Amino acid sequence: MTSCIYPGSFDPIHNGHIDVIENLAKIFDKVYVATLINKNKNGRFSTEDKLLFIEKAISNIDKVENIEVITFDGLLADFVKEKEIDTIVKGIRNTIDYEMEKEMALSIKLLDKDVQTLFLPASTKVSSISSTIVIDLIKNNGNLEEFVPIEIVDLIKEKYREIYE
Ligand code: PNS
Repeated sequence: MTSCIYPGSFDPIHNGHIDVIENLAKIFDKVYVATLINKNKNGRFSTEDKLLFIEKAISNIDKVENIEVITFDGLLADFVKEKEIDTIVKGIRNTIDYEMEKEMALSIKLLDKDVQTLFLPASTKVSSISSTIVIDLIKNNGNLEEFVPIEIVDLIKEKYREIYE
């Protein structure tokens, strides 16, 4: 059985992430979507909120039964080893992502030479989307429908307003 982990802040999840998850569910038997536990409370949303958004956002993806949404803590290299996950996957939108993720992938390799990181290019339609842009749209009453799955458009707005307004 092939498995991969798609780790991220997902603060919040958006259509760029969904694009990667949809592709991974076609390639791997098991896909772990893993969000880092927000210990310092310096994220925009709580870990619980982020998990809720992810679960709802992936609910209509093909092969959703092969996807597990989890949290992790500490070093990704240790977590991957402990869970016996084959591959780490990162989505790449542009050269900035590439340089940053290459540094991370090579550092993880220094920690454990057996851990592989694969890069998946983002589809053109979603390659401009970021969590920062989603937040900017929420703050300014922008239309979120091209940016996050329809299942979470209202929920994200509500949660954001609960926290910040
Ligand atoms: O969505 P992001 O912000 O690119 O996600 C970053 C994340 C959570 C994948 C990354 O910060 C991470 O893996 N943190 C865990 C600590 C770790 O293993 N750092 C790398 C040291 S080599």
